[in-house]
Amino acid sequence: MSGVLTPVLTAHWDEPDSFSLEGYRRAGGYQALEKTLRVPQDDIVATLKGSGLRGRGGAGFPTGVKWGFIPQGDGKPHYLVVNADESEPGTCKDIPLMMATPHLLIEGSIITCFAIKANTAFIYVRGEVLHVVRRVQQAVAEAYEAGYLGRDILGSGYDLDIIVHCGAGAYICGEETAMLDSLEGYRGQPRLKPPFPAVEGLYSCPTVINNVESIASVPSIVADGADWFAGMGSAKSKGFGIFSLSGHVVAPGQYEAPLGITLRELLDLSGGIRAGHRLKFWTPGGSSTQLLTDEHVDVPLDFESMVAVGSQLGTRALQIFDETSCVVRATLRWTEFYQHESCGKCTPCREGTYWMVRVLDRLEHGQGSEEDLEKLLDMCDNILGRAFCALADGAVSPVVSSIKYFRDEYLEHQKGGGCPFDPAAATLFGDSR
Ligand SMILES: Cc1cc2nc3c(=O)[nH]c(=O)nc-3n(C[C@H](O)[C@H](O)[C@H](O)COP(=O)(O)O)c2cc1C
Ligand code: SF4
Repeated sequence: MSGVLTPVLTAHWDEPDSFSLEGYRRAGGYQALEKTLRVPQDDIVATLKGSGLRGRGGAGFPTGVKWGFIPQGDGKPHYLVVNADESEPGTCKDIPLMMATPHLLIEGSIITCFAIKANTAFIYVRGEVLHVVRRVQQAVAEAYEAGYLGRDILGSGYDLDIIVHCGAGAYICGEETAMLDSLEGYRGQPRLKPPFPAVEGLYSCPTVINNVESIASVPSIVADGADWFAGMGSAKSKGFGIFSLSGHVVAPGQYEAPLGITLRELLDLSGGIRAGHRLKFWTPGGSSTQLLTDEHVDVPLDFESMVAVGSQLGTRALQIFDETSCVVRATLRWTEFYQHESCGKCTPCREGTYWMVRVLDRLEHGQGSEEDLEKLLDMCDNILGRAFCALADGAVSPVVSSIKYFRDEYLEHQKGGGCPFDPAAATLFGDSR
């Protein structure tokens, strides 16, 4: 079964000095950059387009196509902003990647900037993970020292500066246009699109915004070629990605595999559901993606197949819940998160998340009624597609999907006058039977 895994980004994570420049170079690091600096910039964009890499931050937009939107010969500075704000509940791949191999992100950033003709890049890291900020800063300093950053990189005549920027810990700042406002020193709130960042982004200049994992995938694509990458994965979801398993699995962690792998295969690799229990529900890509159940374990984890079953691939954050978990409680907890993180700019999200928490709280505590379920669905209807950004659409996902699959469980709370689950049972590990 281990043949299913394709460790590329994670290949050197277990080496004690994988994060140092020396360790990275020993693993072949910075060879793709040397190759890049010898070819025309547009060839790199063409390679990325040919690879079929789609953004790993959740939305899955083709990376090479995004780079191709940057206007040429416009006389304006171009920027790269790396989205390292990782805050989606369950998502935990970019932070370990930056801890284990920060130079992979730096090499990918330099190649990307060269391709889009940018001389400044920002890595926007969420401020709570100070150890990660320090690790990336240290790697950037090493890269300057070694001549991979700064003036006349490796004698090519190309200049680049990378600035590591610390966010203040707001989920909304991971939304790409809110991130730009935050970088410019404003309160992080989404901007109206169009204009899109590729045309008018940071300081009103053409800007590419990409997720950490997307950028970290670039060196291997340049080194091994578009066909190598496109040879993995499924028809329209090419390549490999990091699948993050958490919750009620025997061996939670990061599993790098081709897109299109199934949850069943990932459960086999991770030792399965904890002993004596069975799968109840799961998220394919963080809490903003619609819940799925044990009916869906054989659905390929790729962009198209997830949409076909009414969910989304998202960030491949697979949060696994067994039968000891209360779906109403989990949904309430996620909705509290969205209420807390709503930036307040628009009414459907600001008010909608507040009221959804109120209704879910009453349902969880057995004080709700069947009409409350209709009320919740009605609220979701008034939020989905009617708010300013995708945070609100994400907030609706767990509510609608939990009612779709577990309506009876909601009603059981009402009949029994409270939650029928023991919250401790879901958190006890080891011999928890
Ligand atoms: C509320 C919200 C939070 C987001 N948080 C992140 C994040 O932490 N990291 C990320 O890469 N993308 C996040 N995104 C998606 C970004 O807006 C954007 O699509 C992504 O950074 C583009 O990079 P990619 O094309 O490489 O995936 C978020 C979107 C929304 C609506
Ligand atoms: S949908 Fe929510 S997070 Fe997005 S702009 Fe509106 S209030 Fe802010």
